[in-house]
Amino acid sequence: MKHVEIVFASIVLLVQNVSSLNILAIFPYQGKSHFFVHRVYIQELVNRGHNVTVISHFPEKNPPHNYNDVSLAGSIKILEDDMPFQKSYLTVIGAGIFLTTSGKQNCEVMLANKNVQNLMKQKPKFDVAIVEQFNSDCGLGIAYKLGAPVVGITSHILMPWSYNRFGIPYHPAYVSFHFLEGGTKPTLYQRVERTIFDFYFKTLFYFVSQRSNQQELAKYFDDIPPLEELARDIKVLLLYHNFVLTGSKLFPANVIEVGGYHVSESKPLTDKLRKFVEEAEHGVVYISFGSVIKSSTMPDDKLQAILGAISEMPQRFIWKWESKLKLLDENKLYLAEWLPQVDILGHPKTLGFLSHAGMGGTTEAIHFGVPIVAMPVVGDQPSNAAAIEESGLGVQLQISDLTKENLVKAFRTILDPRFRENVKRVSKAWHDRPMSPLDTAVYWTEFVARHPNATYRTAAVSVPLYQYWCLDIISVFSTTLIIAYYLISLIKRLVCKKNNKKLKQTSTKENKRRSKRD
Ligand SMILES: *[C@@H]1O[C@H](CO)[C@@H](O)[C@H](O)[C@H]1NC(C)=O
Ligand SMILES: *[C@@H]1O[C@H](CO)[C@@H](O)[C@H](O)[C@H]1NC(C)=O
Repeated sequence: MKHVEIVFASIVLLVQNVSSLNILAIFPYQGKSHFFVHRVYIQELVNRGHNVTVISHFPEKNPPHNYNDVSLAGSIKILEDDMPFQKSYLTVIGAGIFLTTSGKQNCEVMLANKNVQNLMKQKPKFDVAIVEQFNSDCGLGIAYKLGAPVVGITSHILMPWSYNRFGIPYHPAYVSFHFLEGGTKPTLYQRVERTIFDFYFKTLFYFVSQRSNQQELAKYFDDIPPLEELARDIKVLLLYHNFVLTGSKLFPANVIEVGGYHVSESKPLTDKLRKFVEEAEHGVVYISFGSVIKSSTMPDDKLQAILGAISEMPQRFIWKWESKLKLLDENKLYLAEWLPQVDILGHPKTLGFLSHAGMGGTTEAIHFGVPIVAMPVVGDQPSNAAAIEESGLGVQLQISDLTKENLVKAFRTILDPRFRENVKRVSKAWHDRPMSPLDTAVYWTEFVARHPNATYRTAAVSVPLYQYWCLDIISVFSTTLIIAYYLISLIKRLVCKKNNKKLKQTSTKENKRRSKRD
């Protein structure tokens, strides 16, 4: 009874102390898998009584009174089941073009939107603006016009162009690269490869997305500073990372790891699926390639490799599969277009997960301690897959290496009891935090509202490149060395000349003496 009273009293105190904030959240990107993550955080802000205004393509059906939608719905095609199942340099190059052209388009659509224009006319006062750090900086212009300090947010690891603005070192030798293999221990070939692609992605971003965003904003507002400058003013970044999965990184104090907050508790399975899972004598393995990649567009040899491996394993399999085609015996393989992923991963009979290594599914797997066979396709998946392997959460299998034998080997590895035990340990460490990731995200958002004028970014952000790379120091030393070298050689020459003269003089004297003697 006493406990209950104390808890109640502290809740009352908390409610009294935390006044409701006016928060603007800006999500111009139309990717469903991104908003699916952000939504959990927005909902939490709403639950805590803040007045939240959300610009996005995903309006709520029954929003509470303190949730205000500024809907972009219908202005652009929502991304789902769109990418083919293949991976090559062409898909990486294509990803760069897609990301930056959609960054341009997202800005045009948002600024042209009537609801957004109404909001900008009313000019409400916001305590904080939450701006997604993905493919467009357009939202930074809006936050600037409304005079709100910015909290950056991601649902994935950093984009190549986001490192500089937060002063985070991107080093090809030990920082994994979003779009390519190699993780934190790349080979020389991979270091060369990622250096070229890093340049490619950054160049595309600055010239295709950021510059057009700047011009688009200038059509509506006449005083927007350079977007890269606004980006450097972001107060705090809530990064969907946690070192237990992605490894120790060099982050400044205003970059906060909040990875994992979107995962809800699993619910019991229902109906046919429940029967299928619970009657699986040797457990089940879950297969999904996410919401953006169509597994039914898989080349036939790859499909046969997966089906062959399934047939060879004693486990039952569940596969998120988008076509009506029947593949194997219904008692062996359960197919459905939509599946309750969290409830499947949270079921004790689920022993493994064959995944494309999207950040969403990966964090759900580490949450429930389910080992992964990671088969990355596009985007951040290659980097996530490397993190899965390096953290001990699973193994990687590249699409190019996908054969029945290799997949069976990978399944056997992750289903090994010792491997699974280690994954449980990894999962335990993942949950072991001083504050839950959702509380952490909300805490730092409120922190920015409490200290809107303070900036805790690293000084590395404002150091000019020539100083950052120590080019000035190197030139001082090399100039000194060159001058010293010439001085020394000059002195040497002078000394030699003098000696030569002396030698000549002595030799002529001697010659004279000799000739006198003769
Ligand atoms: C909540 O935010 C909206 C702006 O979207 C504003 O119009 C409204 O007055 C705010 N409500 C409160 C209680 O501050
Ligand atoms: C932040 O700076 C503005 C403008 O200088 C000032 O009006 C405001 O009171 C400051 N806010 C806080 C919390 O210090």
